[in-house]
Amino acid sequence: MNLGSTFWEGRYLDKETGWDIGSVSTPLKAYFDQLTDREHAVLIPGGGRSYEAEYLHRRGFANVHVVDLTGAPFADLLLRCPDFPRNHLHVGDFFTHAGRYDLIVEQTFFCALDPSLRPRYVRRMHELLAPGGKLVGVLFDDPLFADHPPFGGNAEEYRKLFSPVFPQAAFAPCYNSIKPRAGRELWMKAPKEA
Ligand SMILES: C[S@@+](CC[C@H](N)C(=O)[O-])C[C@H]1O[C@@H](n2cnc3c(N)ncnc32)[C@H](O)[C@@H]1O
Repeated sequence: MNLGSTFWEGRYLDKETGWDIGSVSTPLKAYFDQLTDREHAVLIPGGGRSYEAEYLHRRGFANVHVVDLTGAPFADLLLRCPDFPRNHLHVGDFFTHAGRYDLIVEQTFFCALDPSLRPRYVRRMHELLAPGGKLVGVLFDDPLFADHPPFGGNAEEYRKLFSPVFPQAAFAPCYNSIKPRAGRELWMKAPKEA
């Protein structure tokens, strides 16, 4: 299955966006609410309509970036949030995106990628983080589908995948998921060494 930009752009144009929860993910909202450093460089890969970016932006985080293969969902973000900096919206491939971030946010991006890309995802996340930076967010604890996204997984698989690169990575059941995802999400925290 070709999961390139044409596939994803088509999903937005055809309004087949069943993954889109229409607002900031509740576990991420709780995490964001306890952050204090509004200067931190934040990246949201595969951010789609970018509710997490909007939430942070409205709370005064000035250095929030989104990278997505297609610009189609950014139009929606800019309608909701016209003052979001356009030069922080990157249309392109996460795997070739360049930058250095204090925080990278995962929300239904990992599960959208072909599972063969998972080791590259982990390495690229590590490269894009500044020393002492963190990858945080939500991963499915559910097998989901094997032949099309969303691709699933479980904590044991994720530990094996992440620990060679992020030895302190931790995965714990989410207690504050939205109802349709309750009991099917893990909170991931993967700090990079300082
Ligand atoms: C399942 S959607 C999730 C969107 C958003 N995070 C949300 O929860 O609404 C996956 C997103 O990842 C983007 N995407 C897929 N592969 C990508 C890649 N290699 N680089 C950047 N974005 C990618 C797609 O265009 C799509 O917007």
